[in-house]
Amino acid sequence: MCTGSIRQGGGALEDIVSLTPIGEPRQKITVATLREKKLQHEPITCLTAYDYASGRLVDEASIDVILVGDSLAMTMLGYENTLSVTVDEMLHHTRAVRRGVKHGLLVGDMPYGSYHLGADEAVRNAARFVKEAGAEVVKIEGGEKRADLIRRIIDAEIPVAAHIGLTPQSVNMMGGYKVQGKSLSDIEQLMRDAVALDRAGVACIYLEGIPREVAAMITAEVSTPTIGIGAGPECDGQVLVFHDILNLTFGDPAKFVRRYGDAAALITHAAQSFRADVVSHQYPSDKESYHLSKDTRAALETVLERKRALRR
Ligand code: KIV
Repeated sequence: MCTGSIRQGGGALEDIVSLTPIGEPRQKITVATLREKKLQHEPITCLTAYDYASGRLVDEASIDVILVGDSLAMTMLGYENTLSVTVDEMLHHTRAVRRGVKHGLLVGDMPYGSYHLGADEAVRNAARFVKEAGAEVVKIEGGEKRADLIRRIIDAEIPVAAHIGLTPQSVNMMGGYKVQGKSLSDIEQLMRDAVALDRAGVACIYLEGIPREVAAMITAEVSTPTIGIGAGPECDGQVLVFHDILNLTFGDPAKFVRRYGDAAALITHAAQSFRADVVSHQYPSDKESYHLSKDTRAALETVLERKRALRR
């Protein structure tokens, strides 16, 4: 493969052909790709996205998994936590991301209350993510106690991503956003959760906010790929929240967040510059304006002149 630019000067035809930047066609990422990556020890990349633009940019950056997380309750809708976001709101955002994503695996996060009232309703809601929003996988928080429910959803031909450790939908049960799996009994429970999910046949397991050592043990124990967030480097993949990596969250970042850009500074600067240009009459310029054709301008001038003459 050659990714270089086409040479400017002469050269043999075969040189020119071989230098054409055709690139390798990007493969569609599927659930099977994630398993293959785990087997090959190739790190899986995942970012959240919440609309067409973020979905498209993240996909074009070759991120493997694009998660429309219920974190959008906070990042996009300004809620205090994830609990109040609805299925309809999640579907609205998932549809928008779907339109921007071509290659990445699209995961839709099932919000609080959408799978807690019984398996039938959970399957119905999961199917809405697939049919109405184009999600390829649905994500559900919880381990061992959700295994039967997850089997029901998988039986309906819908791949499921599980999420254990610090599960934000359990914030009231956990008494805050606290690192989980610190005591021996909690570690045992997390292992039981991971094994139950592995047996249920989930597509991947998100491990959030747990000690590195525990995430490493889980990752080694299960054949399902693990994707960590605040769970150390031994996971099979890593996920971060789009707004966190771009400084769009208006608060102190968690320990595990690495900022890769400062969109807040960029947006503030752009908005302030626009305002300054408008109030100082610098925007728009003549070049940024549409114009009439010469003929229409002349015709208009004649009409206006006639009107002025009549008024005299
Ligand atoms: O909602 C979300 O963004 C998530 C990830 C942090 C895993 O669940």
